[in-house]
Amino acid sequence: MQVNWLSPKTQVQRAGSHGTGVFAREPIATGETVVAFGGRVCDGAALSRLPPRRRMLSLQIDDDLYLVGADEPEPGDFVNHSCEPTCGVCGSVLLVALRDLAPGEEITFDYAMTDSTPYDEFTCSCGTPSCRGLVTARDWERPDLQARYDGWFSGYLQRRIAARAAAVPDPVAPVTGTAAAPSSR
Ligand SMILES: C[S@@+](CC[C@H](N)C(=O)[O-])C[C@H]1O[C@@H](n2cnc3c(N)ncnc32)[C@H](O)[C@@H]1O
Ligand SMILES: [Zn+2]
Repeated sequence: MQVNWLSPKTQVQRAGSHGTGVFAREPIATGETVVAFGGRVCDGAALSRLPPRRRMLSLQIDDDLYLVGADEPEPGDFVNHSCEPTCGVCGSVLLVALRDLAPGEEITFDYAMTDSTPYDEFTCSCGTPSCRGLVTARDWERPDLQARYDGWFSGYLQRRIAARAAAVPDPVAPVTGTAAAPSSR
């Protein structure tokens, strides 16, 4: 049994200049679960001791937790990044179609949805109009991506983004509580 689950509506094939990828081989409807990632869980210290390729095929699932795939790469390890992704993250290990996908379309997610440490940074060659060139561990902090992927970040990032938003004072909210009551005279 494999550690990842891939929808039977997908297949692995060459993905141009960025190696191998996962593609739809049958129509996939908006909201369908396409991939469930599995593996062993380790912290950042343990991840840093793994060979580079093993690290690159891993998935961040919490501030300092990572899913490490099987010893030999599996089809589910080959899901590429796109700056205009076809899928989003649900929870921390499911990929769900963001729109209807036709056969031949690539299964992708934006790695900003999962990553906040620099274990898998690279120059992007997705070729989409939205391509940001470099994929980095700090992309999740971009306001444009937070707005575009609201609800589709990994759970730990979604909570982090919400906590930051709650900590920033609203510039139009009334100030209450500390001012002295106006004099009645
Ligand atoms: C989880 S692996 C995906 C499978 C990979 N294509 C392969 O054949 O091993 C992630 C790595 O794939 C490459 N990759 C994924 N998406 C890419 C993209 N949009 N542009 C360039 N490289 C990409 C990067 O090297 C990245 O570190
Ligand atoms: Zn790109």
